[in-house]
Amino acid sequence: MLFCGLVLCFPIVAQQRALKDVFKDDFMVGAALNRRQIFEEDTRGAAIVSKQFNTITPENVLKWALVHPKPDAYDFTAADRFVKLGEKHGMFIVGHTLVWHNQTPRWVFQDEKGNAVDRETLLQRLREHIFTVVGRYKGRIKGWDVVNEALNQDGTMRQSPWFKIIGEDYLERAFAFAHEADPSAELYYNDYDLELPAKRAGAVELLKKLKAAGVPIKAVGLQNHNLMDWPSVADEDATIDAFAKLGLRVNITELDVDVLPRTTKPGADYAVDVEVTPQLNPYTDRLPDAMQLQLAKRYAELFRVYVKHRDAIDRVTFWGVADGDSWLNNWPMKGRTNYPLLFDRYGLAKPALAAIVNLDSALKWPAELNAEQDHQRLLDLLHIGSLRPGVNGNDPNAPNAANYDEAKANPYPALPDPLLLKNGKRVTDAKTWWNKRRAEIVEDFDREIYGRVPANVPKVDWEVVETKREVKYEIPVVTKRIVGHVDNSAYPLVNVDIQLSLTTPANAVGPVPVIMELSFVFPPGFRFPASMAPTGPPWQQQVLSKGWGYATVIPTSVQADNGAGLTLGIIGLANKGQPRGLDAWGALRAWAWGASRALDYFETDKSVDARRVGLEGHSRYGKAVLVAMAYDQRFAIAFVSSSGAAGAKLHRRNWGELVENIASSGEYHWMAGNYLKYAGALTWKDLPVDAHELIALCAPRPVFISAGDKGDYWVDAKGMFLAAAAAGPVYKLLGKRDLGATEFPAIETTLIDGDVAYRQHSGGHTPGPNWPTFLEFASRYFTKSHSQLTQIH
Ligand code: GCU
Repeated sequence: MLFCGLVLCFPIVAQQRALKDVFKDDFMVGAALNRRQIFEEDTRGAAIVSKQFNTITPENVLKWALVHPKPDAYDFTAADRFVKLGEKHGMFIVGHTLVWHNQTPRWVFQDEKGNAVDRETLLQRLREHIFTVVGRYKGRIKGWDVVNEALNQDGTMRQSPWFKIIGEDYLERAFAFAHEADPSAELYYNDYDLELPAKRAGAVELLKKLKAAGVPIKAVGLQNHNLMDWPSVADEDATIDAFAKLGLRVNITELDVDVLPRTTKPGADYAVDVEVTPQLNPYTDRLPDAMQLQLAKRYAELFRVYVKHRDAIDRVTFWGVADGDSWLNNWPMKGRTNYPLLFDRYGLAKPALAAIVNLDSALKWPAELNAEQDHQRLLDLLHIGSLRPGVNGNDPNAPNAANYDEAKANPYPALPDPLLLKNGKRVTDAKTWWNKRRAEIVEDFDREIYGRVPANVPKVDWEVVETKREVKYEIPVVTKRIVGHVDNSAYPLVNVDIQLSLTTPANAVGPVPVIMELSFVFPPGFRFPASMAPTGPPWQQQVLSKGWGYATVIPTSVQADNGAGLTLGIIGLANKGQPRGLDAWGALRAWAWGASRALDYFETDKSVDARRVGLEGHSRYGKAVLVAMAYDQRFAIAFVSSSGAAGAKLHRRNWGELVENIASSGEYHWMAGNYLKYAGALTWKDLPVDAHELIALCAPRPVFISAGDKGDYWVDAKGMFLAAAAAGPVYKLLGKRDLGATEFPAIETTLIDGDVAYRQHSGGHTPGPNWPTFLEFASRYFTKSHSQLTQIH
């Protein structure tokens, strides 16, 4: 069962002028409406329509098959509502479409025996249809797409039943009927791909002929079902010119931009029965930030052409209101997730809307630097000529192969003392830790390592977009899909929607503990290498069987995992699209920020015990989990899996991945710009703090540091153990237990008696084998309560 759309908070309405106002001196701006918008059942869609547009077209309800399904049966229910809606809002109402080869019932062209009717019969039917439909809305529908798509891609006449049975003059006749039915209505010829030179030439010829014959045609409709790279600005420009020269008005009638891969080029026959592979449907969850920006730029360039031709153009109509409505989710193949319009699936404005609305304004585009350029920019700011290169973890024979020799692993054994104040005094009581020393450590991590979260990060409105009752691992559960819309009204060219999902036992009697994973999104068709393959029962099942809930948050929905993305995502939004400063946050801090915002949501959800929310993350997300746990004291426990360098591993260790690797252009975006110094003029021992102090920031809360073995040497299991051990004094100062070991233990030794816990499993680079240990550790804190859960077996 599905009960959707419980809106927790009001969606953010960007403080932007409406499209119809922005372009009021240029042309009307409109949208095609579906049934749910016409009947105002889609309240979000209807609100967008009334605010943004001053002209509407029915996407389907006036097509022959819908309005006139049987010879003697017309159904005007929806069309009447459509026209009323337009009148209610004082909109220019367009009718679509009278003559087309699609969505026209077969009976139109056949007699009772199924044979093709003759010319006179078809003309008679056409006249009757047009008189009935156009006549009904005489004076109310102001313009009609009389003939739709009469041309082939090469500019010749399409051999439609209309053409074959009536002959080429079917167009003339249709226009004449429509004119007769409502002499005041504007009449249009509407078609797609008229930007193809051959098709355009054919259309010019056709329209010239119609005009010469005195056909009362007012405008040509360029459908503009565009791709990201087609038609070019020059094609569009030339096309509008070509038709304007004929003395016709030019309307943009079905505007959208397909962002998904096509198997064919414009001009070829699109096949709707192509099988949808993951490669053909790559953005099932969200449109990547970089694509979102490219889409905004695409819309801006198109609108610049339209505005340039404002003297020829009366109207620009989008083919749909919000992305979820678009026909392009089902064409040219069914069941894809497309993003062709200005409003997203939540009904919120996309950067493309801001781009159009601010076409001439000073709104500055996000800087577009690739990772190398941004990395170099930071080096310049730091006055560093070059960095020491990282080590090679793949080839043991490489000259710069990673070190795996313990004898060489500890060049800087002296670690900064977490309990020594900057003024040289020793911290001997909890109060001094909380009031002074902790803040010193945080400041060092902020400035030198992970970067600062800016003061002006906009707020997040959480919306439950779907609530589903289901059975998972034989346990009845409630799963919610929740989206955190970040207020981007200060810089609408960047949008951030945090993706969160929460599953809790349906029969819990009260709020339950929740373990939240910071999850990878693997590319389409991805397969785990053997060393990372999940083992044992899924972690979600293990968590649920404790009577707890599980959640996943998608870090890349907060911040992209690359340097080129730093002017987008939450970092870019807070910085209005400009490159970040040296002590500004990097991706790890941004991901951790996202996890904290998810916890904000949990505090509002009655099914969650927000004081018992644990975190889990692996590898780069293991690093992020440790950062989140260290910085946000509301998190109750953390499972930090194979976090390695920039996670729980001591920066001062020479084993596997090094500071130099993290500082390279492939990974520097995780960190503050200042971190690069330690692979340049400075070295590891110059870092004012090290990983043991990050773990110490988690104190007194329990934290489990996890590593693997085979294939997981890169993360430095021992370097993480040493850090966990060296955090001990802070735990003890706060009345908690340390790791209880100082010697690196044998693989699979379980150290979970203290509040800092550690275990190296014998598997590879995966959290899998350590889940049972973590849950055993967590059970000590999240007392299991059987009464909270009823299982069906
Ligand atoms: C690379 C990187 C690690 C990181 C890992 C991952 O191996 O060097 O630091 O943890 O990717 O996230 O999978």
